[in-house]
Amino acid sequence: MKTMLKIALVMIFISGFAFGQIANSAHDFSGDTWNSESEQCNVCHTPHNALAGVSPLWNHTVTVASFTPYSSSSLDATVAAPDGASKLCLSCHDGTVAIDSYGGATGSINVSGNDLIGNDLSNDHPISFTYDATLATNDGGLVDPANAGVAALLTGGKMECSSCHDVHNGTGLTNLLTIDNAGSALCLTCHSK
Ligand code: HEC
Ligand code: HEC
Ligand code: HEC
Ligand code: HEC
Repeated sequence: MKTMLKIALVMIFISGFAFGQIANSAHDFSGDTWNSESEQCNVCHTPHNALAGVSPLWNHTVTVASFTPYSSSSLDATVAAPDGASKLCLSCHDGTVAIDSYGGATGSINVSGNDLIGNDLSNDHPISFTYDATLATNDGGLVDPANAGVAALLTGGKMECSSCHDVHNGTGLTNLLTIDNAGSALCLTCHSK
C-alpha cells in the first residue's frame, strides 16, 4: 500500500512538472550539468528581468550575426533578415551564441552536427517573410493563406521556423515538427503541387 502511494505520488510529481511536452525533447535542458537550476524554461524564458524588448520574456542571449537569406530566380516572396521567433531559434542554431548563454551569463557549449543551421540560410527553406493572398496569386502554386491549415502555421501572417517546428514539442513529432511530414503532408499544407 505504501509503495503504491509512493508510486502514485512520484507520478503526480513527474506529470506536474512535465509542462507541455518539452520534457525529454531535444529542448529539455533540465538534465544538463551546466543548468544548475535544473529547469525546463529558464534557458529560454524568465519570469523577471527578461531581455528588454525581446518577447516572450526572453532570457537567452540573442544573435547579432548577419545572415545570407534564401534566394532563387523563381522566388516571389521578399525575404529579409530573420526576425521574430526565427531570430530566437537562430540564437542557438546559428552556432554563434552558446546554448548555455542565458540569464546574463556567457556559456561555451554550441550546437553542432545537423542541429547547426549556421548564418548561411541560402540552402534552407525561406523564413521571415509575409505569406499573403498576393504572394499566393503571384506564385500560383501556393494554398491561399486564408485557409485555416495555413493560417495556423503563420505568425503575424509570416512564415517562420515555427511554421514547421513547435519549439515546445507540443505535437510530440520527430524533429519537433508542427505537422507529420509523412507523404509530405507538412509541405502540402502550403504548397499545392
Ligand atoms: C529552447 C527554447 C525554449 C524553451 C526551453 C521554452 N520555450 Fe517557450 N518559447 C520559445 C520560443 C522561441 C517562443 C516563441 C515562438 C513560439 O511560440 O513558437 C516561445 C513561446 C512561449 C510562450 C508564448 C507563446 C505560447 O506558445 O504560448 C509561452 C507562454 C512559453 N513559451 C512558455 C514556456 C514554458 C512555460 C517553458 C518551460 C516549460 C518554455 N516555454 C520553454 C522558446 C522556448
Ligand atoms: C537555447 C538554445 C536553443 C534555442 C533557443 C532553440 N533551440 Fe532547437 N535545439 C537546441 C539544441 C541544443 C538542440 C539539440 C539537442 C540535442 O541534440 O540533444 C536543438 C534541437 C532542435 C531540433 C532537432 C529536434 C530533434 O528532435 O532532434 C529542432 C528541429 C530545433 N531544435 C528547432 C528549433 C526551433 C525552430 C527553434 C525556435 C523556435 C529552436 N530550435 C530554438 C537549442 C536551441
Ligand atoms: C518549411 C518547413 C521548415 C522550416 C521553415 C524550417 N524547418 Fe527545420 N526542419 C524541417 C523538416 C521537415 C526537418 C526534418 C529533417 C529534414 O527533412 O531535414 C527539419 C529539421 C530541422 C533540424 C534538425 C536537424 C536536421 O537538419 O535534420 C533543425 C535543428 C531545424 N530543422 C531547425 C530549423 C530552424 C532553426 C529553422 C528556422 C531558421 C527551421 N528549421 C525552419 C522543416 C522546416
Ligand atoms: C507554412 C507554409 C509552408 C510550408 C509548411 C512549407 N512551405 Fe515551402 N514555401 C512557402 C512559401 C510561402 C514559399 C515562398 C514561395 C515563393 O515566394 O515563391 C515557399 C518556398 C519554398 C521553396 C522555394 C521556391 C522557390 O521558388 O525558390 C521550396 C522548394 C519549398 N518551399 C519547398 C517546401 C517543402 C519541401 C516543404 C516541406 C518540407 C515546404 N516547402 C513547406 C510556404 C510553405
